[in-house]
Amino acid sequence: MVAPEAQLRRALGHQSLIAMGRTAPNPPVACVVVDRESGKQLGAGATEPPGGRHAEIVAIESLPSGLAPGSAVLHVSLEPCAHQGRTPPCTERILETPAIGEVVYYARDPGAGRGGHARLEQAGCLVRRSSSFNAGPFLGGYLRRLKGQGPRFHLKLAVSADGYIGVRGRRLTLSRDGALSFGQLLRAHLDAVLVGPGTLVLDGSRLDFRPATVFLRNEMKTKDPFLDELLAMGFSGLDIRDYQPARIFLSPPEFAGRAEHEQEQERITDQVGGRAVYMCPGADLPDLAGAEFPGSLRARLGAEGLNDVLVEGGSGLLLALERELGSGDRLYLLRSERTLRELGAAPDDEPVPAPEFMLEHEYDGSLELGSDRLYYGSCPG
Ligand SMILES: NC(=O)c1ccc[n+]([C@@H]2O[C@H](COP(=O)([O-])OP(=O)(O)OC[C@H]3O[C@@H](n4cnc5c(N)ncnc54)[C@H](OP(=O)(O)O)[C@@H]3O)[C@@H](O)[C@H]2O)c1
Repeated sequence: MVAPEAQLRRALGHQSLIAMGRTAPNPPVACVVVDRESGKQLGAGATEPPGGRHAEIVAIESLPSGLAPGSAVLHVSLEPCAHQGRTPPCTERILETPAIGEVVYYARDPGAGRGGHARLEQAGCLVRRSSSFNAGPFLGGYLRRLKGQGPRFHLKLAVSADGYIGVRGRRLTLSRDGALSFGQLLRAHLDAVLVGPGTLVLDGSRLDFRPATVFLRNEMKTKDPFLDELLAMGFSGLDIRDYQPARIFLSPPEFAGRAEHEQEQERITDQVGGRAVYMCPGADLPDLAGAEFPGSLRARLGAEGLNDVLVEGGSGLLLALERELGSGDRLYLLRSERTLRELGAAPDDEPVPAPEFMLEHEYDGSLELGSDRLYYGSCPG
């Protein structure tokens, strides 16, 4: 029997993940309403895509009728909004719902919606902030962008057992089944995917979300609620037409294949949605090797309204980003058990080494994904 508090945390994590990747520039908020006495879940909701309902409204509208006044507690990952935006303030809807006797939230909103706590208190509703659910893994990107620091980066890199990420001038796939599926799960729950110029030219990356067929489910607990939810949910209920991340390509100013690539991207947008964005280091962004590059890139991505951006390499881009990583940026290293040669490199191929900071990072933990091992961790603030 799982304790009600643990069940509540899981439910908040689950709803958060349902929202993640679908709400930017809004936050991916989770709301769970429970019975005050038993802790039993009465309703739940996740923020809908921009223009849609906030999590609190979805949860309130899912409640059964006939609940006794004050019998329910509304838990929400972010302070309820008190302002009229594209949708009416959530505080007023909460106050109009007699069943809700108390509101508990887990992160303060520094954005336009702030002031919800004061408004609820002033109207006589019991309200408190709690730290028993860690909303950071789900809301960290939004909170960071609101501070004017741009989106959170999620750096993902596949490496061979001997520490290489590929070979110069030729496409070589390092990840197998489980690791490929994991990459697709990240694409399915983050706002955008980004690759560097070398990778775009060499790999012709598409960056769309394509659910893998490999069953990926891990009941093992990690030290990370975001990963726990990601692996527990797997591909169930995910449809490529329901969701596509923004596809961001750092393109060389002179890229011979650009027209063809743009045509393919237009086809992908027509078929499954999402959007392609091209940015050129050395033209409309500072040069990749320059000190201003990472800050300018983050600012551009923040201006696009993105909260969480998945960076899928290559090494030149990761090295350029290294110097300004921090404040909760996340790292995922997928390490194969095979060497570069065993993965198909020829004797005369020139190996591309993984950036040292990715190999030497003190990861929070690791878990097996088929024949690869995933190391995961966050950068210190
Ligand atoms: N294992 C993985 O998870 C993974 C993921 C992504 C990519 N990769 C592999 O990483 C390698 C690419 O890494 P990368 O460091 O070269 O690239 P990158 O990080 O995608 O892009 C950065 C580099 O692009 C280069 N670039 C600029 N203009 C270019 C042009 N016209 N043509 C080709 N390159 C240009 C620049 O190199 P200069 O400074 O030389 O101009 C710059 O340093 C490939 O082998 C790719 O398959 C592996």
